[in-house]
Amino acid sequence: MCGIIGIASNKPVSVNIINSLKKLEYRGYDSAGLATLTDNNINEKKCSGRVEELEKILFKTPSNGNIGIGHVRWATHGVPNSLNAHPHSSDQVSVVHNGIIENSDEIKKELEAKGIKFKSQTDTEVVTLLITEELKNNKPLDSVFKTLKKLKGSFALGIIFKNFANIIIGARRGSPLAVGYAKEENYIGSDSYALKSMTNKISYLDDGELCILTKDEVNFYDTKLKKVNKKIFTLSEDEASTDKGEYKHFMLKEIVEQPDTVKNCIDEYIDSIKKNINILNFPIEPQNINKIVLIGCGTAYNSCLTAKYWFEELTSIDVEIDIASEFRYRKLKFNSNNLYIFVSQSGETADTAAALDICKKNNVKTCSIVNVIESTIARNSDWVLPIYAGIEIGVASTKAFLGQLTVLYIMCLKLAFLRKDINEDTYIKNIRNLKKLPDAIKKCLKSENNIQLMAKEFISAKGSMFLGRGSSYPIALEGALKLKELSYLHAEGYPAGEMKHGPLALIEEGLPVIVIAPKDKYFEKTISNMQEVIARGGKILFITDNKKESLNENIRFGFRVPHIDNLLTPILLTLPLQMLAYHVALLKNCDVDKPRNLAKSVTVE
Ligand code: M6R
Repeated sequence: MCGIIGIASNKPVSVNIINSLKKLEYRGYDSAGLATLTDNNINEKKCSGRVEELEKILFKTPSNGNIGIGHVRWATHGVPNSLNAHPHSSDQVSVVHNGIIENSDEIKKELEAKGIKFKSQTDTEVVTLLITEELKNNKPLDSVFKTLKKLKGSFALGIIFKNFANIIIGARRGSPLAVGYAKEENYIGSDSYALKSMTNKISYLDDGELCILTKDEVNFYDTKLKKVNKKIFTLSEDEASTDKGEYKHFMLKEIVEQPDTVKNCIDEYIDSIKKNINILNFPIEPQNINKIVLIGCGTAYNSCLTAKYWFEELTSIDVEIDIASEFRYRKLKFNSNNLYIFVSQSGETADTAAALDICKKNNVKTCSIVNVIESTIARNSDWVLPIYAGIEIGVASTKAFLGQLTVLYIMCLKLAFLRKDINEDTYIKNIRNLKKLPDAIKKCLKSENNIQLMAKEFISAKGSMFLGRGSSYPIALEGALKLKELSYLHAEGYPAGEMKHGPLALIEEGLPVIVIAPKDKYFEKTISNMQEVIARGGKILFITDNKKESLNENIRFGFRVPHIDNLLTPILLTLPLQMLAYHVALLKNCDVDKPRNLAKSVTVE
């Protein structure tokens, strides 16, 4: 949940470190820092707050040095102040860290007993001080290797050494680390995106590996410190999508991009001429799949829950869903005929990656649905279905959610057809309907003014509720998640039928209640649940695809999405909820792209 960067070059590196840190800010943004080596001295600068604060410090007192490391933090141990900001340096080494050292308290006590003093409250400082101790008798690589053996937890590390002024050591356990190559310049970074403006040639460290880079070469070592070779990937050119362009926020840009995101995804998977879905080589023969288990966190979990309704509706396969942080600790019965599907935008979410590892250890077949195809989750799963959404920068996931839903729906259709759960006519009709989705999304986006009015209802609200039934229930959860993460307003997503089992007690005069009621088999039931809310003073904001439903005096606002087909309606119902969260956040002056306390990629448990 932090971002790290390291650059070894033949020219000063601080400007490029700052530029990369700006790109890494989506991983954490409560403090920032960098360290360079100048005249064999470690020159450290750090501050609380954003990278632009660090940039101001550098502007006043520039940092020279052709080798350096940088960090953006998402605090785990110790409050976000400049003391706890990374790098953490001794008189010998400087360290940046992403992850958590789980046994840091124990190590700290041992080091303190030897008279070693700590400056910060972080877990990272134990790494700095352990390496410093090892350096008394060892060379840098051995010192780091011996230190790693003492650490429990997950980490990606970048380390520079006062007396070995031409090297950076990188190490990875759990948290991701990429290596980039250029002429007389090499890099480590938490992801390829941070390196993209400098190189498109990338390798990835595998778990437990280390690397040493100088400006001229990079050497990799495995868990036994044996040299290994690495594959070099060439990244594709999609720099345009990493720019906000005419938009005020990345989130807005990503919302508006969704017709294209979904179209790209459909074009990748649908053969329009043959009217077929290009998904081949299921890791288990479709007829033999006993159960599908869908696993994810946050928004990705909400797409798993939506897909459960699709799989149940269209196929005869049993479906289970789980939150990755729960799945990884449950006592499960694995079955080699179950297909375990991991959904993750980043492909780096620690809990999802750990759940995948458990499946691999149990020799069951895994599939991942990811946005970042070179990610850990993608690389570790048997089968990958990319969502082709392009980079998503806003911390609140929008286009990736629609991309995940699109791929899950496509996969479900293909499975249903291959298993003969649906006939060819239904298959082709559903493919035809799917192709109408991008235009329908465009239509939803045109009604933004209506949403801006709705958003005003939330300015002085104490909280809000989102209600839906059937496949609108996960959309209610997603709407509530978006609103709470962006505007810090309490929001509950509930199956509308559950209201009278407790949550109805929360309804009071004027509480905004978003009722998601498409014209499906639940419609009348949801309307009855809505009446119960109206009777208790709830202020209804009504979202539907039902042309006949006219607004009445009890409904404060209404939003109508186009209708294509009931199965696809959840995707369209998401649009007004994303826009609502965006506009409420704007009205409340919240940082839309970087909500407080959050980070885009959750690489710690
Ligand atoms: O990268 P992932 O899809 O694995 O991330 C999972 C969640 O952390 C993520 O969806 C999170 O809930 C978003 N901030 C929601 O907008």
